Amino acid sequence: MYSKLIEKIVTDPKYFSLLGFTLVRSVMSQDAVGILRKNLDQLFAVENQERLLLPRHVLKNPTLRKLPFLPKIVRALKEVLEPRYALWGDFVVQKNSFGRWHVDSGSEKLQPYLFEKSYRFVKCGIFLQENSHEWGGGIGVRLFSHKKYNKIPYRLNDILYSPFKKMLEHHVIIHPGDFLCFDSRLEHNSRFPAYIPEAQRKEGYNPLPEEKAKYVFYFNACNQASARDFMENTLRRGFCEEYIKKSEEIFFTDYGSRMFPEDFPKDFIENVRQTNITVASPNQWEADINKIFMEELQKNASHQ
Ligand SMILES: [Fe+2]
Repeated sequence: MYSKLIEKIVTDPKYFSLLGFTLVRSVMSQDAVGILRKNLDQLFAVENQERLLLPRHVLKNPTLRKLPFLPKIVRALKEVLEPRYALWGDFVVQKNSFGRWHVDSGSEKLQPYLFEKSYRFVKCGIFLQENSHEWGGGIGVRLFSHKKYNKIPYRLNDILYSPFKKMLEHHVIIHPGDFLCFDSRLEHNSRFPAYIPEAQRKEGYNPLPEEKAKYVFYFNACNQASARDFMENTLRRGFCEEYIKKSEEIFFTDYGSRMFPEDFPKDFIENVRQTNITVASPNQWEADINKIFMEELQKNASHQ
């Protein structure tokens, strides 16, 4: 548990810019978490997925597609981003996924927009278990690492930050049903559970006993000013990493093919309207071409 003062700081969106993350406690009740975990056990089996439910699986499911609109989440994101922020349809549920230190903006390299003062882009996660030492259900962050993106050359900042790296590693105290949003430029890891011996740890999926499974519902959100740049990154990745490589896992092409509102379920559109936010959307020709890619990739996958 955090001390009272730390708890106050990490759960107050006012400190988001400084810390690079904000925690919102109990966006779901313990009962709701228990029910959702059971549903997910079944859903992963029904969809024949081992480690990931993708946007098309999430949007098919009325319970899952409601989660980004939980009132406490919307309230926090309005404060962290802007009142009419853009939600991304890149919903995934990760199962038993663990890995090394990285930034989510890694594929964007050092694009100039990452250094803009107006840049506000967050990864959002709803965690369905404790972030414990033994089972590793959450993430760790390197405090202030997002501050490396400023007017001073990045390489120099990186060198200056390096000696403090270890000291600034922070294990985020997360309980089941908590929500965490963090700056896409913040260094973080999904710490491996002590349960898995070091020699057996693999980047990505690592099996755990079913009742101890790690489930996280992830999506992105940003201010309007940051939406277009990321959409271009999505389209590029869909084409280069999925279409050209005939990838079996279809993620970027999936959400990059969906225009808002026409390609979303009615109740989802209604939730967007009621919360007065927007959904980041490709333009018509981008969506059309991704739909063609999507069809081809799915056909390809079913033939294998
Ligand atoms: Fe990440």
